[in-house]
Parts: sequence; C-alpha cells; structure tokens
Amino acid sequence: MSHGVVMPSADFSLPELVAWGEAFGARLEPPAVFTFSGELGAGKTTLVQAMCRGYGVTESVTSPTFALVHEYHAPKSVVRHLDLYRLKNVNELALIGWDESVFGDGVALVEWPERAGDELPDDLGAFHLEHIEGEPDKRRLTW
Ligand SMILES: Nc1ncnc2c1ncn2[C@@H]1O[C@H](COP(=O)(O)OP(=O)(O)O)[C@@H](O)[C@H]1O
Ligand SMILES: [Mg+2]
Repeated sequence: MSHGVVMPSADFSLPELVAWGEAFGARLEPPAVFTFSGELGAGKTTLVQAMCRGYGVTESVTSPTFALVHEYHAPKSVVRHLDLYRLKNVNELALIGWDESVFGDGVALVEWPERAGDELPDDLGAFHLEHIEGEPDKRRLTW
C-alpha cells in the first residue's frame, strides 16, 4: 500500500473465503490481534466466523452489533470478536474491556478498527474486504 510494499490480495467466492478463513484460523497461535476493514456487506463477519471455526470455536459466532464484543472459548485461548461500528468515541473502549482484548493472552478479531483510532496496538494483522464491480458473488481480500 505504501513504501512500495505489495499487499497480497485474492478474489474469493463465499465458499472459497470461508475455506480460506478456516485454514487461517486453524494455524493461528495466541496472542494475536487482527482487524477487518471494509464497507457493510463486504464479508468481514463472514471471515471472522470462518476463522473462529478454524481456531476451534464450536459455539455459533454472531455479529456483536449492539454488545460491541462477544467472547468465545477455543482450546488454545479465548477469542473476542469486536464490532466497533456503533462505538461513539474511544472512551467507550474501556467499557468493553479493550485492553484485555487487544493486549491480553487471547485472540482479538476487530471489525471497524478505524473507530479505535490510536488505541489499536502496533502489532496486528490487517485484513481488508471489498466488493468487486460486476462480480456480486465475489469479494477481494487484501492482507
Ligand atoms: N464471496 C463472498 N464473500 C463473503 N460474503 C459474501 C460473498 N458473496 C456473497 N456474500 C454475502 O455478503 C454478505 C457479507 O455479510 P457480512 O459478512 O456480515 O459483512 P460485513 O461484516 O462486512 O458487514 C453475506 O450475506 C454473504 O453471504
Ligand atoms: Mg460485520
């Protein structure tokens, strides 16, 4: 994106994205923080759900739209799925256990990371999803 670094990118159908996410999740070791950016409907929650499944979460992973964070248990660690879309300001992060989520021992998967501004840790993996013009059933994943 900048400094001449080429970001890997691939176009995925829904089953392809799910398979990729499950494989990624299966290789994940805690602690880790990943962010998921992209517009509504880009597939962020779909990818998070697949990664959780691959990581060993057996509960069903649902969008934490109003709670802002949902916590799951996997064999390797706790997994926290955060959706900051409805975060009003960064002061609210303390109310949802932000430090424990992103500086703790578990895995944190954060949708709408832009909302957290400077509070994001430096050490994270970033995923971006976007629609592809003329390809309604595919999404472009960049990481
Ligand atoms: N290739 C694809 N990858 C991901 N989602 C897809 C794809 N094709 C269609 N979809 C649909 O797009 C929607 C993505 O929704 P969701 O994952 O909740 O997005 P977000 O969390 O980014 O708002 C789902 O209804 C999903 O079935
Ligand atoms: Mg979502």
